Amino acid sequence: MIGPPGGGGGLELFMARGGRRRRPPSTVPDSGLTGPVDIPEPEPEAVPKDLKSRLNRMWVNVTGTVRGLPKVAKLTWQASPVLTIVITLVTLLSGLLPTATAYIAKLLIDSVVAAIQGHGTKSAIVGVALFQFGILVLTAVSQALTTYGQSLLQERMTLTIRHQVMDHASALHLSYFEGSASYDMLRQASQEAPTRPLSMMNSALGLIRTVITFGSMIALLVSISPLLALVALVAPIPAFISQSKYGARAFWLTLMMSPLKRRMDYLNSLVTTDTYAKETKLFGLGPYFVDRFQRLGQVFYDRQRTLTRKRSVSSTSWGLLSTAAGSAIALYIALEAVGGRLTLGDLALYTAAAASVQTSVQGLFTAFSGMYENNLYLDTLYRFLGTKPEIVAPSEPRPLPSTVEGHIRFEEVSFTYPGAADPALDGVSFEIRPGETVAVVGRNGAGKSTLFKLLCRLYDPTGGRILLDDVDIREYDPVELRRQISAMFQDYVTYQGTAAENIGLGDLTHLVDRERIETSAKRAGADERIERLPSGYDTPLGRWFDQGVSLSGGEWQKIALARAFLREAPILILDEPTSALDAQAEHDLFSRLRELSEGRTTLYISHRFSTVRQAERILLLEHGKVAEYGTHDELMAAEAGYAELFTLQAAAYLDEA
Ligand SMILES: Nc1ncnc2c1ncn2[C@@H]1O[C@H](COP(=O)(O)OP(=O)(O)OP(=O)(O)O)[C@@H](O)[C@H]1O
Ligand SMILES: [Mg+2]
Repeated sequence: MIGPPGGGGGLELFMARGGRRRRPPSTVPDSGLTGPVDIPEPEPEAVPKDLKSRLNRMWVNVTGTVRGLPKVAKLTWQASPVLTIVITLVTLLSGLLPTATAYIAKLLIDSVVAAIQGHGTKSAIVGVALFQFGILVLTAVSQALTTYGQSLLQERMTLTIRHQVMDHASALHLSYFEGSASYDMLRQASQEAPTRPLSMMNSALGLIRTVITFGSMIALLVSISPLLALVALVAPIPAFISQSKYGARAFWLTLMMSPLKRRMDYLNSLVTTDTYAKETKLFGLGPYFVDRFQRLGQVFYDRQRTLTRKRSVSSTSWGLLSTAAGSAIALYIALEAVGGRLTLGDLALYTAAAASVQTSVQGLFTAFSGMYENNLYLDTLYRFLGTKPEIVAPSEPRPLPSTVEGHIRFEEVSFTYPGAADPALDGVSFEIRPGETVAVVGRNGAGKSTLFKLLCRLYDPTGGRILLDDVDIREYDPVELRRQISAMFQDYVTYQGTAAENIGLGDLTHLVDRERIETSAKRAGADERIERLPSGYDTPLGRWFDQGVSLSGGEWQKIALARAFLREAPILILDEPTSALDAQAEHDLFSRLRELSEGRTTLYISHRFSTVRQAERILLLEHGKVAEYGTHDELMAAEAGYAELFTLQAAAYLDEA
């Protein structure tokens, strides 16, 4: 069964974790790429089916959904107070219109009958007809106003919420983006949520409108005959029950969360996304994926068909029961009218009212299930917006010294990634004197990149502390701290922008400072390639543009380096800056680095020992611990890990020679 919105129920958890939900190990791969196509749907939790627990569950769902309303109202109001008022008023008014229309019809018939029988006047008929016209005009105007208000409000809401989501996402800590559950939450908040509040609001207003119509109709019927009112109320109940049985749940399970559908989407993206295309073609995977897609699709369709069939059979048969009851009453009224106890107008009124009450009941259900569904999405949005950024400035941040010297000290720093079993760094201590250049070496996974990320305070250490100029970096404002660091990460970004923009983004204060951008490009050795581009620095890079130029891997790396060099910060950190560079470019860069790192504390990671040995000191990490730290000569003399690795690589080169 579906959990209550906001209650952390099973459904919500399932949604948040998407396909990465933990399951008991099975022999069938979860990915859908191999194995049988008949992937089972999630089993609804076994729940007690007695009336009391059913009612109880219904109550929990109703209250949960209703509790979501005030927040939505607030969001709508924030988006546009005027439109909110207009839409609300029009909705309330339009709730009364069907009743008014039905009542006018009755008046019209009664006055016509009276005129025929000779005790009415034509002017009475004209009066009623004018009144009817007025109501029709009101109906048309209110419909137009609703459509107008809704479409405008939709735009406003979407913008407001996307803005809030972006704003919040930009303040969140890095590890938030790396967890699978939180990543799903972020994606849903930014893709699904923006349209939901208005949809929820519309459902809620629709609900109110229906309740008004319903209430006024019943009141009108009571005035004719209380018994009729009762029957009109009871008749639609069977249809209501069958609707509720198959409505929301079926919708959810099949459309929103079907594991089959998710896998189909994945297969689809494998074949249609540019970044996957190379491998799909090389390995000849296309036809295989297409075939899997089709087979999964067939199973999906079969299941949909079964469900749809059950649903329509059930709702039609129960609906017929309601229809039978309605017809019986109509017959009763007709006979009463013949007997003169009710007027012809009453007959017309009842017919209209019975139909409208029936639609209202269905409308109530649709509106409520819509609200329920929207509320589930909104819950994700609120939880996202409610997530507190973990890395924030202390309440009274210590101002950075006017000139940061770049004196870095790690004291027993340990760090374990959220959810990881082993620490990536374990009791790391070392010191870098101001202006020194240090190379960090170690095997894959030794913790080198992690060290850099901690220094930028993208994560906080789980133990120990990092000092910059003798102050724990957590005492500074993280924004201020990061301003002191020029960095290039291992997985640098290739922006879909011009060459100049790609470099300028390294320091927003110099985003359009062409002279400085050109200097940085020169420092990174990117200038020569950029000048050969069709429009030089103004050439768009990347495939998003019509005239975009695609760069090679190494060319992109030079651009990323130039971006790091644009910022003249006291600390420079480069994570494998030359991994994609050719031998000449690498040599050139390191000969320039001496001058570039002048007066700055510089750290770089490299796997090439010819460049590593140029550093003043070398830090060897092994399994998250500092294994060796010293100058090249010291470490060579120690004849331990570093010396071994160095000799290994050197020997390989010598053999070649
Ligand atoms: N975002 C992350 N979430 C969880 N674990 C991570 C994350 N990034 C790295 N790790 C783990 O932390 C350990 C250290 O990773 P790190 O990236 O620091 O290695 P590295 O020394 O830079 O390796 P390489 O030479 O391959 O770049 C690895 O075992 C890795 O599995
Ligand atoms: Mg790394």
